[in-house]
Amino acid sequence: MTFSEMARTRQSCRRFDSRPVEQEKLERIVNSARLAPSACNSQPWRMTVIHREHMPDFAKCLQNMGMNKFTSNCPAFIVINEEAMNRTAKIGGRLLKQHYASYDIGILTAHLCFAAMEEGLSSCIVGWFDEKAIQKMIGLDPAKKVCLVLCLGYAVPEDTLRPKVRKDLSEIVKFL
Ligand SMILES: Cc1cc2nc3c(=O)[nH]c(=O)nc-3n(C[C@H](O)[C@H](O)[C@H](O)COP(=O)(O)O)c2cc1C
Repeated sequence: MTFSEMARTRQSCRRFDSRPVEQEKLERIVNSARLAPSACNSQPWRMTVIHREHMPDFAKCLQNMGMNKFTSNCPAFIVINEEAMNRTAKIGGRLLKQHYASYDIGILTAHLCFAAMEEGLSSCIVGWFDEKAIQKMIGLDPAKKVCLVLCLGYAVPEDTLRPKVRKDLSEIVKFL
């Protein structure tokens, strides 16, 4: 698949098959994602891969206030937490009033989604979660920020392609 085909056909999956995700696939996905660019090559991230059979209660961390119920059927998760930026990224960010780590982690997450697609897997980025519960469950220092969780698995066969709802190009792009 070309990149434009992947961009057109990627969609958030909320209907996963119970089939487990192979360890080798998860390893290839995180290995591709680690090549993502970051400000000053700071790589201010860490990924924790969770196979559902090892942590059956993990989905509960994503379901506070009745949200993200679909995650109960998800066989694998990647928690992305923020690590310290290097000095240059920190100083640059301070001077320009930017928090580069957030952008870096967004790019990492996009790499994860497309790397998963290459492996025939579907994904859903989850930004609604109980941070403290995740920190406790994965043994993460409570001072470290959990940024996003990626749900991964095989989509059920009947999970068809939905039409994309997006702003018109003219609203979001200006050619000078
Ligand atoms: C930062 C971020 C947080 C998100 N959090 C959630 C979430 O908690 N639950 C959920 O079902 N989808 C979540 N999504 C998925 C978006 O709802 C989805 O990407 C958007 O509606 C576009 O749909 P598509 O991914 O199918 O193209 C999140 C996406 C992003 C980028």
